[in-house]
Amino acid sequence: MKFAIGTLQLDYPTVLAPLAGITNLPFRKIVKEAGCGLVCTEMVSANGLVYGSEKTRLLMQSSSDEKPLSVQIFGSDPFKMADAAVIVQESGADIIDINFGCAVKKILKSYAGVALMKNPALAREILKKVRNAVTIPLTIKMRSGWDSSGKDAFHLAQIAQDCGVDAVTLHPRTASQGFSGKSNWALIAALKKQASIPVIGNGDIAFPEDALEMIHQTGCDAVMVGRAAIGNPWIFSQVHDLLQQKSIKPVDMALRIETMKKYLHASAAYFGELNACRMMRSRLGWFVKGLPQSARFRHAITKIRTCQESSQVIDEYYALLSNNLF
Ligand SMILES: Cc1cc2nc3c(=O)[nH]c(=O)nc-3n(C[C@H](O)[C@H](O)[C@H](O)COP(=O)(O)O)c2cc1C
Repeated sequence: MKFAIGTLQLDYPTVLAPLAGITNLPFRKIVKEAGCGLVCTEMVSANGLVYGSEKTRLLMQSSSDEKPLSVQIFGSDPFKMADAAVIVQESGADIIDINFGCAVKKILKSYAGVALMKNPALAREILKKVRNAVTIPLTIKMRSGWDSSGKDAFHLAQIAQDCGVDAVTLHPRTASQGFSGKSNWALIAALKKQASIPVIGNGDIAFPEDALEMIHQTGCDAVMVGRAAIGNPWIFSQVHDLLQQKSIKPVDMALRIETMKKYLHASAAYFGELNACRMMRSRLGWFVKGLPQSARFRHAITKIRTCQESSQVIDEYYALLSNNLF
């Protein structure tokens, strides 16, 4: 099952969801290596890019081994969004995604994210200006809107299509729902029936089997996975295995350990050793969730300050499991 967004052909119909604070370059690299079709940055402020914020620019930093890369921007000023899109294109990104789904207060106050689903005229203006400013594929990511009917999403998808947007992602929860309740996959199916551009389904894929179920229930062209990829980047290759009617293999412990170390070292190169180790004190724990002695590992990792100390804790955990020393 291949998948294209505009002129960009992807090997797999799987997409890493943008996750603020998580889908940075080191994380995207391990997800890509684990077989994901398309990785995405976290949301990047259009204003920050236009005003030259170095911190904002760093969010777009990329490397060839994660390509193709989708950069998600947010904002509500059509001119600034277009200028930001040009900056994103010039940075070498392969896709620009526009955030129409973020429901965080600060974003809503600035009329961006899901607030734009209440203002279709402004949404259209943004999409028109951005589409005219750049040539790379353009996508949008949205929620179901401000009520559970999905009418805001169907309307925005139609606008997006009219403006030359190349694909649309739907996370079918309402603006006020946050992450509560269930993602309403029936709305993805309804959108797929209406849309002439590819539809990416998102929400509540916890296991690889769920991805197949979503494709089966909705007919979506690709699936986007967020929370389930945290600590389990292999979910993407497992989805591909299922799509090819292969059985899923459990993740090899040696591969898990190697990936944790890669994530650690890539994070140290990106954030500096001490900052990275502080972050890794919680993040490495994601990778051992549900495994024997994971609480012991999570405790041991709380004090790491250097990559060497971290590697040692990882190795000790591996030895513990390999030798059944518990
Ligand atoms: C910690 C966190 C950060 C997120 N950051 C973003 C973001 O920057 N942009 C965005 O469009 N959605 C963001 N989302 C929403 C996810 O992309 C996704 O739509 C949502 O988690 C549902 O997918 P899932 O059930 O596979 O996690 C975030 C979600 C979480 C949990």
